[in-house]
Formats: sequence, structure tokens, C-alpha cells
Amino acid sequence: MDDAEKREIKIEKVLSILREKKVVKFQINALTRNGRDELMEIFSSIFINFGLNMEYMFNIYSAIVEVIFNAVKANAKFILFQEMIKSRIAGNIKDEEMDDVLQTIFREEPLREFMVRYIPQDLLKKKTQNLLRVDEYFRLKKGVSQEEKENLVHYRTKMQERHINIEFKIILDDNDLIFSILNDSPVLKKDMERILHSREVHAMLADSGHSGDFFSPENLDQTESAGMGIAMADEVFYELKLNPFDYFTIETSKGQTKSMLHFPGVNA
Ligand SMILES: Nc1ncnc2c1ncn2[C@@H]1O[C@H](COP(=O)(O)OP(=O)(O)O)[C@@H](O)[C@H]1O
Ligand SMILES: [Mg+2]
Repeated sequence: MDDAEKREIKIEKVLSILREKKVVKFQINALTRNGRDELMEIFSSIFINFGLNMEYMFNIYSAIVEVIFNAVKANAKFILFQEMIKSRIAGNIKDEEMDDVLQTIFREEPLREFMVRYIPQDLLKKKTQNLLRVDEYFRLKKGVSQEEKENLVHYRTKMQERHINIEFKIILDDNDLIFSILNDSPVLKKDMERILHSREVHAMLADSGHSGDFFSPENLDQTESAGMGIAMADEVFYELKLNPFDYFTIETSKGQTKSMLHFPGVNA
């Protein structure tokens, strides 16, 4: 069986689960070029087979890609954050107690927030970008050095051991298309404040009928990367004349983050 046939079978399966159960679940570890193509095929099959309004498809697809990317990025950053904390406290904690100590630190919000100040955020950001790059190169069988490969294996093992995953759900109920993305890493307080602030600025512009102005250079938030992912998803809702605060939520609880995007009235 070649890859195209395998993919066709997979898509058939997705459609039949969705038909029967109204919800289909995926476990995601990365979103490479191939993965994005596959997701696009899944999207178009769903839209075609369930008679949804094709006009919405590309917009919704790009919003979902952004939100999944955020989850992938957040998980990678979180494991690196833990490993950096680990090397800082290594001298003070016995090896066999380390995992429990880390678990405790990262489960408790105040402790977790306290640890942020011990880690240079620029370095963490660089390490995250690098890990994601190596991961993508490795999956696409582009060149990675032996050292990079060992490093990658190390982090993948840690993610498995600590159950850091992403669960992606598509729910199709009558006229409602809902996506849920659950990642096993929290949004830190400073990041949540940043997200909220930027969503509010965007909402103010939308109120005056100029939501698109949000993407002009003076609104670029340079703290992370461009900070445009959530805004792009919000913009999709503004274009659909929906208030994104009602239909797109991002919540952190017990160290997990759940993003939900709800599109009502998608039937053609
Ligand atoms: N699923 C998530 N889990 C944890 N943190 C998240 C998640 N989604 C977003 N964030 C945080 O929100 C910030 C803003 O996201 P976004 O607007 O997409 O900008 P960017 O991805 O360019 O940083 C991210 O940098 C990250 O700190
Ligand atoms: Mg993003």
C-alpha cells in the first residue's frame, strides 16, 4: 500500500467515526508540511461529505493550524523549561527524587510562576525554536547531526515519560463545527495577560469596523515571535461576524491548556 492509499483509508475512517459518533479524536505530536497537507485533506473531505459551506474552509483551516502550532510550541517549551530547572537544582536534589520534585513544581501554579525568573526567557525561546526545527528536519528526513538527533531523542523520551501530548478533537453536531485542542502544558500568567491584552486591542479595532488594522506593524508584539497566531484566529471570527470571545476560548487548568473554537451555522 502506498502513502496515498493509506491516507485515503485514514480519511474514510475519520469520516465514518464522525458520522457515527459526531466526534473524532487525534493524538498530535508535530505538524510538519505532510501533516498540514493531511489535515487539509481531512478538512476538505469533511466539508464535502457533510455538505458544509466551502467558503469557510480555508479560514477555519488556517485558524486551526495556528492553534495546533501553539500547542506544539508550548509543549516543547514546557519540557525544555523543566529540563533547564532540573539542571539548576541538580546539585541540591537527589537523582531519584528529581522527577517527583519537578512534578510538584510544575503542577503548582505559584511555584511554576516563581521558577520563571530563574530561566533566561530568551534562551528558552531559542532552545524551543531549535528543538522544533530539529524535530521537523528529522521527520522530513532532512539532515540532522548526530548530536542533534541524540538531543531530540532525549526530549521525546522525556515527553513520553511525563505524558506531554496534544489531543485534537473535531466535533460535528448538526450545524455546529467545534474543534478542541488540549495540550499538557500551561499558559504562564505573563503570557495569558499578553494574550488578553492583545485580544482586547483587536476587539476595540473590530468595534470601529477595522479589525484588519490589527495586523499593521505598530501592533506587532515581539515578545515571542510575531504574536499573530491567536489574532489570526480571532480575525476569522470577526469575518464571520462572530465575537471571538464567545466562540474561541483558551483556558489553563491543572497544568493543561484547552483551546476551543466553535463555528456555528456551517451547513451550506
Ligand atoms: N496552547 C497553548 N499552550 C500554552 N501556551 C500558549 C498556547 N497557545 C498560546 N500560548 C501562549 O500565547 C502566546 C501567543 O500566541 P500567538 O498569538 O499564537 O503568538 P506566537 O505563537 O507568535 O507567540 C504564545 O507565545 C504562548 O506563550
Ligand atoms: Mg502562534
